[in-house]
Amino acid sequence: MLGDGGGKGGPINLSDQLYYPAINDTLGADPNGIAFNPLSMTLYAAWEKPAERRRDDYRSNARAAIAAGEKLFNSAPMTISNVRGLNDNAALKNPISLAGTCATCHDTPNIGHHSLPLPLDIGVAHSSNPDLESDKVIAAAVNELSAPDLPVFLISGCPNPFNQGQAESFYTTDPGKALVSGNCADFNRVKGPILRGLAARAPYFHNGSAAHAAMTRR
Ligand code: HEC
Repeated sequence: MLGDGGGKGGPINLSDQLYYPAINDTLGADPNGIAFNPLSMTLYAAWEKPAERRRDDYRSNARAAIAAGEKLFNSAPMTISNVRGLNDNAALKNPISLAGTCATCHDTPNIGHHSLPLPLDIGVAHSSNPDLESDKVIAAAVNELSAPDLPVFLISGCPNPFNQGQAESFYTTDPGKALVSGNCADFNRVKGPILRGLAARAPYFHNGSAAHAAMTRR
């Protein structure tokens, strides 16, 4: 059970979880003025070091693996670049790259969505074709996904947010927030989702391109 051995998962614990819009905001917008705490996931800290653990104790081993994942979520460093909504955000002074972790975007404590509605384009709906995707890192990541058979739209004539004065065309299966706003700046931008209960609801991402099988294949 998710609440055993000091774990704080499951629906009853969730009912006690404090939330308000912009809680723990990465960019300092928490209305109570509380600074961003990168330790956004702490549900399974008690599972890091179970009181007794035998090599063949599959339950303790599984719990320790979950706790290790939680720690990585809060702390594994990553460079965030070419994310529309962040790296082309004038309010953030258009940073070419940002140092962060998973919690930078999934900042709501123990729930995991972005505590403010800031839709982002993390590349999920991009093409892996190098002629259509100039960022090799994004192309390689999209190659790991398996995009479902969806209609692909070509949107042309928008300014490239990362190269001023240059027009760019996008192939996409879902223009995201741009369908609501009509603005080029909003293409492909979708909101970071809640991460609780993930195991029960594969496939992942708005277009279902991360199938459960692909995520567990290694
Ligand atoms: C730059 C911001 C950002 C960072 C950093 C980030 N994410 Fe996300 N994440 C998002 C957004 C935005 C989505 C929604 C994308 C979509 O649906 O296409 C998302 C979606 C997901 C999903 C899919 C959930 C679902 O219900 O489909 C998972 C799982 C996830 N992220 C885990 C992680 C993990 C683990 C890390 C760290 C290794 C991480 N994220 C780092 C912004 C981010």
